[in-house]
Amino acid sequence: MGLADRAADVAMGLFRGDGLEVRRKADLSLVTQADTSIERMLREQIGAAFPDDRVLGEEEGGSHDAAGRVWIVDPIDGTANFARGVQVWATLIALRIDGDGVLGVASAPALGERYVAVTGQGATLNGVPIRVSEVSKVSDAHLLLQEFREMLSGPDREAVLGLVSDCWRNRGFGDFWGHMLVARGSAEVALEPGLWIWDYAAIEPIVREAGGRVSTFEGEPLRHGGSMLTTNGSLHDEVLGRFAAARV
Ligand code: IPD
Ligand code: CA
Ligand code: CA
Repeated sequence: MGLADRAADVAMGLFRGDGLEVRRKADLSLVTQADTSIERMLREQIGAAFPDDRVLGEEEGGSHDAAGRVWIVDPIDGTANFARGVQVWATLIALRIDGDGVLGVASAPALGERYVAVTGQGATLNGVPIRVSEVSKVSDAHLLLQEFREMLSGPDREAVLGLVSDCWRNRGFGDFWGHMLVARGSAEVALEPGLWIWDYAAIEPIVREAGGRVSTFEGEPLRHGGSMLTTNGSLHDEVLGRFAAARV
């Protein structure tokens, strides 16, 4: 059984269960036994199959040194959804070699969706190739937002409000899923003000292989603790221009 299947078994065994333990971490974010058990299992399986590879994970940490083969895992992305019984959560698994993403998996068993990308080989949803949309005007774009409070209290407030006004439609489909909706052509722009490397390492190759673009709101490569703008590619420069203009 593969890593994503094992993770799905553990997670689905706990999702919406009566005895799910939910705790607050030091940073006040939530953690459940699904997060801790899945990361432990992933580390054991990866360690057994690839003893020389390193693992960096949300719950147990690890070195951020990019050299060599590094697996980057988020055992449950969308833990707050998981804890509240909302189906939008996924196990995220990435493999990077010398800092380059070569594999990304977002496995969302409660949605019945598994997204996979191998660099140079395209992206799939449940084995079927996916592709971003061809929408080329902001006025036709489906905009996805999350962490509204953070975005509206910082320097990007005006750019975000402008996009909300000008896009065809806006919704709050978030966590990994917002970016997957862009990758599969169901939306065009997803905004996320702050992510850690385990939140985006698997997502980035999936969006890129589906033909989309990913950067920070400043147009830079993603970084630990930075923002994330995902688009269908056609709208990326215009959205970056709006962020830049709103900051001056
Ligand atoms: C969260 C998700 C979410 C982001 C939060 C993260 P978690 O991850 O990635 O999209 O807005 O900042 O903490 O904690 O559910 O793995
Ligand atoms: Ca996460
Ligand atoms: Ca997590």
